[in-house]
Amino acid sequence: MLSDRLLESLNLQKLQSTIIKFGTANVLLAVLAIAATALVVDYAHMLYLRSKMPPGPFPLPIIGNTFSLPDNKPWIYFEELSKKYNTPLITFWIGRNPTLWINDAWAAHDIFEKKAQIYASRPRMVVFGELGTGQSNLVTMRILSNADRDHWRIHRKLMHIGVGVQSVRGYREIQNNESKVVALDFLRTPAEYVKHLERYATSVVSIIAFGRRVASYNDPIITEVIALMQLAADLNVPGKSFPMLLETFPFLARFPTFMPWFKGLGIRRNQKGGHYFFKSLADEAVEQYDQKSPSEKASMPTPYAVTLAAEAEKYHLPSAELSSLTGNLFGAGADTSSSTLVTFVLACCAFPEAMQKAQAELDAVVGPTRSPHWDDSPNLPYINAFVKEVLRWRSVAIIGGQPHSPTQDDTYNGWLIPSGCWIQGNVWAIHHNEREFPDPDRFCPDRYIEGHELYRKFPGDRGYMTFGWGRRVCSGQALAEQGTWVTVARLLWGFTIKKARDEKTGKEIDVDIFAYTNGLNMRPVPFRCEILPRTEEIREAIVREGEQALRGLKVHDGESKYRMSTFYQQTREKLKEEVRLDEKGNVQIVKIKK
Ligand SMILES: *[C@@H]1O[C@H](CO)[C@@H](O)[C@H](O)[C@H]1NC(C)=O
Repeated sequence: MLSDRLLESLNLQKLQSTIIKFGTANVLLAVLAIAATALVVDYAHMLYLRSKMPPGPFPLPIIGNTFSLPDNKPWIYFEELSKKYNTPLITFWIGRNPTLWINDAWAAHDIFEKKAQIYASRPRMVVFGELGTGQSNLVTMRILSNADRDHWRIHRKLMHIGVGVQSVRGYREIQNNESKVVALDFLRTPAEYVKHLERYATSVVSIIAFGRRVASYNDPIITEVIALMQLAADLNVPGKSFPMLLETFPFLARFPTFMPWFKGLGIRRNQKGGHYFFKSLADEAVEQYDQKSPSEKASMPTPYAVTLAAEAEKYHLPSAELSSLTGNLFGAGADTSSSTLVTFVLACCAFPEAMQKAQAELDAVVGPTRSPHWDDSPNLPYINAFVKEVLRWRSVAIIGGQPHSPTQDDTYNGWLIPSGCWIQGNVWAIHHNEREFPDPDRFCPDRYIEGHELYRKFPGDRGYMTFGWGRRVCSGQALAEQGTWVTVARLLWGFTIKKARDEKTGKEIDVDIFAYTNGLNMRPVPFRCEILPRTEEIREAIVREGEQALRGLKVHDGESKYRMSTFYQQTREKLKEEVRLDEKGNVQIVKIKK
């Protein structure tokens, strides 16, 4: 903006000769005067914009509202602001940039869906975009010109080839087989249920992306990919400490990346760049696929890395961009899907009556000798509602993923939404609005059944906004919905999931339905529960189906020689860093002596 431009136009040589001519004191005065004028002009511009935009707290010069952010879970604070001002949209200033927060389903629908064409872009994101993924990643790619739009469309199209609605049907048997294995795992080591769900989710995306399954729940790739994604998700939550503070003071991002406020961001891992890990995985997948026999190839869907390598020639995309697509699929699918399923387990513990009602429907429609399948779905209205409620009650991407940005000035309700600004859907507030979801913290699948007292109208045909909106809706939505449905249905059919009991007192240990992690992709903090097969007949069916599924999945067995945590290690370094999840589910970077 103005002051940035002033700084840039100052030419050092001119500066020197000017100083000699006018004397140091006068020059200092002049510089101060210019700075003061720039500040006043800039602040006046902020206040002018503020007068046209949706209401919000009063911004200070330069720092805006940044320092009134809470330490944790800012989406709850934005929901409160929306209630305080009694408006669906609020404006919150991160430094000199206004960010808009939509706290209402109808406004989100009117803006992001009905005007999808205008809202397809992303704003400038210093931390996650410029220092994180870079500008050639589908997730953060901005649309500032027609060339950008074409480029973005190619990425979107390639992503659709991988996980678009048409392709997703072809992945059903992978998800079905892997979720049968989850049931078997729940039977054998129920206390490790989180690890089983993480293995399931990682394995499904690994088969789709690289043709290779993740067989052991102790495979380090699971923790690594989940920790990496939680870390990435943290970089999306507005904050008042570094590195998020770079969003407020973007000029600090121009310094060399060894400055302390970068907190390690933006440092190239080696001369080949940070995407190189995913490129190596993709190359390895192509090699391993080539070695398979024709009959093996015929019995599995072509891995996305292989399809992509073939398609890419048409579009002349650099390899960094290609591997970012496989990387996105792998990363975005593992953490989010497993978090959703952990939420499902929590809901069963806290709301046993919903679980029992679901089980009564499954007993009547499916019976004990086989587990449910998608073909049963038309006869399972309560299960369908149950899955919707899992996706609504505690949505993973709690602020709807990354912000949108309009490519031209727009208005809503008479308010200005300026071109290029940061506008974000607050899924927490939307899914907690009493008008659409009375008693919102109650897990109640019946609210999705027309005629029930909690049933309310909601824009769109799904009844939730868990996957974002418009042209930036999650590419993996169909895959995630399909997998969540079959896994939730199968686990409900197979198991009684309930609060654990204290060994000494025999008393139930309560679960906390608000104890969630702080990142943008939130998940329940670990809790104990008891998972038991419902009947002996069902137990036998789980074993039979699980073992059959393991045989069916054999074609996807394979090893990778790469590990994320050791990939970029420099030989000179004495300390090695590992990403880990601590017991609260937060990301820790641990230094380990070799
Ligand atoms: C799933 O397992 C069945 C056997 O239960 C097998 O016929 C099928 O090929 C497997 N499919 C995949 C994609 O793993």
